[in-house]
Amino acid sequence: MTTSPEPTNTSSVRTGHLGEKPVHRIGFGAMQLAGPGVFGPPSDPERARTVLRRAIELGVDHVDTAQFYGPDVVNDLIREALHPYPEGLRLVTKVGAYRDEQGGWLPAGRPEQLKAAVEDNLRGLGVERMDLVNLRRYERDAPGADAAPLEDQLGALAELREEGKLDLIGVSSVHLDTVRTAIETVGIGQVQNPYSLLDRSDDDVLALCREHGVAYVPYFPLGSAFSGGPAALAADPHVAGVAERHGASATQVALAWLLARYDNLLLIPGTSSVAHLEENMAVLDVALDADDLAELEKVEPRPVGH
Ligand SMILES: NC(=O)c1ccc[n+]([C@@H]2O[C@H](COP(=O)([O-])OP(=O)(O)OC[C@H]3O[C@@H](n4cnc5c(N)ncnc54)[C@H](OP(=O)(O)O)[C@@H]3O)[C@@H](O)[C@H]2O)c1
Repeated sequence: MTTSPEPTNTSSVRTGHLGEKPVHRIGFGAMQLAGPGVFGPPSDPERARTVLRRAIELGVDHVDTAQFYGPDVVNDLIREALHPYPEGLRLVTKVGAYRDEQGGWLPAGRPEQLKAAVEDNLRGLGVERMDLVNLRRYERDAPGADAAPLEDQLGALAELREEGKLDLIGVSSVHLDTVRTAIETVGIGQVQNPYSLLDRSDDDVLALCREHGVAYVPYFPLGSAFSGGPAALAADPHVAGVAERHGASATQVALAWLLARYDNLLLIPGTSSVAHLEENMAVLDVALDADDLAELEKVEPRPVGH
């Protein structure tokens, strides 16, 4: 495992790892494949399946999903498009939430709910074992809403690991103390938190992952579609300047900046478009230098989220 105590420019490193298993540093976040608001089916399911197949053709070997995307819609699309899965494809899901009939996102973090949700994912995806299951907590979105103590939640996932239902445990939407506890108790394969050029508030968690060699997987890497992140990046003069210098797009610059933060930072940009997918996969060819990184430090942070 390669770890670096201090940030160095790691934008051109092509392979990271989940646990001991190598993965391409650019994976695919499947959330955008559901209908509007990540609720119900997309208007053109075949288009969504085409995006998934193209991702695999382009070298994606890490797909991030959840049963509560849709619900069930995204896992069904993945199974329909990709099953039987190519050798080495890592399927990563998250448990700890459910959707109400209006599409609201609610906590479902009691141990028995977590175990049932893992079974739902196994069934929906048509696999016997998940490569990684993230415990999706509510401590950042709605402090106090988590319905069970962290230790009990992690214990439930550790039991499923013992039973062979999952390889690795991850934690998502969590603060530093939770990450530390998870590393020290059950051991984790990734942290999945919101982080981007527009929201750098998770630098302390990223540093802890770097220290332990744990994969850091930023969600909302483009600042979140829910709050206009991609458009805000395109409108930022610092991002636009660096993009022009490289003949790249604003989104490519934002993703390359993330890759430069840590050699085991794995991207899962979400898109429902083949053209955007192809653009995102080309990011490893955008080599930012020290001047670019200094310029991007000037980007004004802005609130992101649902
Ligand atoms: N753990 C959690 O709680 C959690 C929460 C949220 C997300 N996630 C995961 O993280 C993944 C990434 O997050 P996200 O999808 O919400 O990211 P994001 O930062 O919101 O970016 C997605 C948005 O960017 C657009 N986009 C993508 N590539 C683009 C490009 N090359 N040019 C212009 N626009 C582009 C997409 O639109 P188009 O579809 O038009 O390309 C979409 O609107 C999700 O897919 C999901 O798997 C996890």
